[in-house]
Amino acid sequence: MKRRHVLQLGALGLASGRAMADADTLRRFHAALERYPSLSVFADSTGEQAGMALVSGRLPRDLNGTFYRNGPGRFELGGERYRHWFDGDGFAQRWQILDGKVNHRGRFVQTQRFVDESAAGQFLYPSFGTFVGRGAVKTNDTMNAANTNLVPFNGRLYALWEGGSATELAPDTLETIGIKTWREDLKSMPFSAHPKRDPDGGMWNFGALPGGDKLALYRIGADGGVLAAGVVTVPALAMVHDFAVSARHLIFLVPPYDVRREEGKSFAEEHHWAGAGTDARPLRAVVVDKATLQVRQVFELAPHMAFHFGNAFDDGATTRFDVVLHDGEILADLGRLMRGERPVGDVSQSYTAQVRLDYASGKASVARLFGPSEFPRVAPQTVSSRHRKLALLSSSRVRPALLFDTVNLVDTDSGKVDSFRFDAGWQVEEHILVPRTGARSETDGYLVGAAQDTRGGETVLTVFDAAHVSHGPLALARLAYRAPYCFHGNFAPA
Ligand SMILES: [Fe+2]
Repeated sequence: MKRRHVLQLGALGLASGRAMADADTLRRFHAALERYPSLSVFADSTGEQAGMALVSGRLPRDLNGTFYRNGPGRFELGGERYRHWFDGDGFAQRWQILDGKVNHRGRFVQTQRFVDESAAGQFLYPSFGTFVGRGAVKTNDTMNAANTNLVPFNGRLYALWEGGSATELAPDTLETIGIKTWREDLKSMPFSAHPKRDPDGGMWNFGALPGGDKLALYRIGADGGVLAAGVVTVPALAMVHDFAVSARHLIFLVPPYDVRREEGKSFAEEHHWAGAGTDARPLRAVVVDKATLQVRQVFELAPHMAFHFGNAFDDGATTRFDVVLHDGEILADLGRLMRGERPVGDVSQSYTAQVRLDYASGKASVARLFGPSEFPRVAPQTVSSRHRKLALLSSSRVRPALLFDTVNLVDTDSGKVDSFRFDAGWQVEEHILVPRTGARSETDGYLVGAAQDTRGGETVLTVFDAAHVSHGPLALARLAYRAPYCFHGNFAPA
């Protein structure tokens, strides 16, 4: 791997030394929050949290373990507020479920950025959607927010961000151990927040280097050693947040943005949508052969932005995968929410699809599975092989993009949906499938997630029977406080 590309990414946003003060964003958000408590999922959090949850319903006796979650918690400092949801500092959470009791703990990941900025009392470094240029960026990890996922692996725990290293935390206390370097020559390389577990116990991951048009690829063994690493070149690479892994392939979707370096602009602001107009560019599906870590084939689809995948599997001469496809304006809409705007009529739209890539014809076909939705997850035992069930969040009402009230389990073969809608005032976070030991099907287990009761200002752990989501939660475990809204999480059985 060439360190040169790391430095190119690290240089994004390094420029004038001029900070984009955002007291205006802060003022507007707080005025809106007074009127709309539902915006509390984008509110600032401070300090550590610990408490027992009040359990109602029937917590299954065979559901024991720890549900690790992560999301942005600090959005405001020194009278300024970040302008994008993805910018906040990572707040790691663990819900320990044991013998009918639920214990919660949360604390900020002590990244270099969090420590430096806390000491300074102001934002110093550039983040994903807000340019700040008060501090010198030495490596990708100077800006590492560690705010996107929390992944238990090989007896250790990693807080992940996509632009730099994994950050290791203590699984019990969530204390920060430090930056993880998988191999010395991979130091500070981007390591995405969406690694995929291999059936052999290891994991696959990637890191995107849009400035250098490269994707770094990682195959980590079950013991944490690097089994393979490589780099593929993808011309006009833009933000790539997640990928899908089948038995033979790694599948990436590259959205049509022109990424232009601009003085005093954030990474998100440097993305210019190129999927509209007469010279609209396509969404590209880049398929990498796992055996060689080389690009096997590139397919073209109608222009969309994509963040999240469900799963992929090889099906004879084709590969199929689930993905949530968005309009290109989604990145800007997320910024509007941080200012407290509640766009309802003109928000960007999304839908979940299953895409089939046919290697012989070179054609990609897209079958619509579900309407506006996000946070797709599949049963962990099906990753990279044939699956039929996809968990998704959606909204029953016209509301700001990415605010959800409904949990769905979609049958990707029949299109049948088993869903539950929470009451008004609730906002649902990602839900994941947790199989019973020796599960015989994808629904032999539980659908576990979190939700925010925004009227009471409380965060709640939810447990559904995966075979009967529409029956409603088997159990709810309610905290006496609001914990930051999380992007992603994973369950570690006891
Ligand atoms: Fe994500």
